[in-house]
Amino acid sequence: MDEEYDVIVLGTGLTECILSGVLSVEGKKVLHIDRQDHYGGESASLNLTKLYEKFRPSAQPEESLGRNRDWNVDLIPKFLMANGELTNILINTDVTRYLEFKQISGSYVYRDGRISKVPTTEMEAIRSPLMGLFEKRRMKRFLEYIGNFKEDNISTHQGLNIDKNTMTEVYYKFGLESGTKDFIGHAMALWTNDNYLTQPARETIERIILYLQSVAKYGKSPYIYPLYGLGELPQAFARLSAIYGGTYMLDKPVDEVIYDEEGKVSGVKSGEEIAKAKIVIGDPTYFPQKVRKTGERVFRAMCILDHPIPNTDNLDSLQIIIPQNQLKRKNDIYIAVVSASHNVASKNHYLAIISTIIETDTPHIECEPAFKLLGAYKEVFMGISELYEPIEDGTKDHVYISKSYDATSHFETTTDDVKDIYFRITGKPLVIEKRKALTNEEDEE
Ligand SMILES: *[C@@H]1O[C@H](CO)[C@@H](O)[C@H](O)[C@H]1NC(C)=O
Repeated sequence: MDEEYDVIVLGTGLTECILSGVLSVEGKKVLHIDRQDHYGGESASLNLTKLYEKFRPSAQPEESLGRNRDWNVDLIPKFLMANGELTNILINTDVTRYLEFKQISGSYVYRDGRISKVPTTEMEAIRSPLMGLFEKRRMKRFLEYIGNFKEDNISTHQGLNIDKNTMTEVYYKFGLESGTKDFIGHAMALWTNDNYLTQPARETIERIILYLQSVAKYGKSPYIYPLYGLGELPQAFARLSAIYGGTYMLDKPVDEVIYDEEGKVSGVKSGEEIAKAKIVIGDPTYFPQKVRKTGERVFRAMCILDHPIPNTDNLDSLQIIIPQNQLKRKNDIYIAVVSASHNVASKNHYLAIISTIIETDTPHIECEPAFKLLGAYKEVFMGISELYEPIEDGTKDHVYISKSYDATSHFETTTDDVKDIYFRITGKPLVIEKRKALTNEEDEE
């Protein structure tokens, strides 16, 4: 470890591992350290033993839960959009060779006390129980508008200027009801609250297009998910980094980050060893003095079930979104469901992870309508995470800190953070060109 590097990365969360992979490919000499003995940091996937150690140290998993190694429980529940930025990065870096993805079988939304599939095609809109007869026709016209929208053909804009007109005005033009706005804004555009309504419509329209294009890719839902859990993602980028000479050290204490007289970072100390580098990247847990709370706290409840979610045609995986308005809340509640068919739970078991931004002191009561949708559960592990963000952008001390993983249901904000950090470090936008596939000899594992 007593050597000089271009970059030292602290923590093996997904953000850090994407950055070390990308920087290694660009020829930087990277040292990557984690104080924990497993990959993933805050975004790890845990087996039963580790899950109990973390949430219920005095208890033992019940025997009926099956083999420890069959479990990979995500600490941060998120799905990948099939056409989203993380998927593009995985494909362009050829990291997909280390991973196997499966599509998530359904995307559901809660309305008036029950759940239904999110309609994404004109046919589905016509059949959807979410809307009455006339509303179905209005929804069909809205989907046609989105489907035909071409930036450079003004006659497809139907008189709307999406850089000026707000989303409320767009909904008004199509005469959509408030319950329909709820599922378009929250279950398709995936906004977590209603602030988007008064903003220019462009971003919302682009998000709906991303959703629909992602659905179109595999059919059942816009989401895909890696076999063996999300913890596979940082590991896959770590392997990419290693191929390009990156050095990885797990279970390695980080005792001190060292600075020069000008206050610029110069290295990292672990025991008696010092590794030097002029750039250090890390997650907020390594820099408690350099981060602040965003004020948002995320509640997550991991429920283990031995049956599929009721009223979902026994799907092996799905997402359920409860738009905030439906429960008179300010933030949506998400439920991510995966199961043995993704190699994250033992046979006949399902994992349902509920998450939301907390609004009261009793988040488990706020989430009661979500728990009700699941039916009986065998086990539940609950936790609250504070969200942190860096105080400074790193230009002064060359320490670049990532943000905590937020409450959104997908990875788009994580890749935004990766791009932002990359830009702060290099002064250039991150462009990941399609990498030539490696031959097996180059890939030493
Ligand atoms: C623009 O859109 C209209 C309406 O969809 C279509 O009839 C027309 O052919 C399009 N024009 C071009 C140049 O693509």
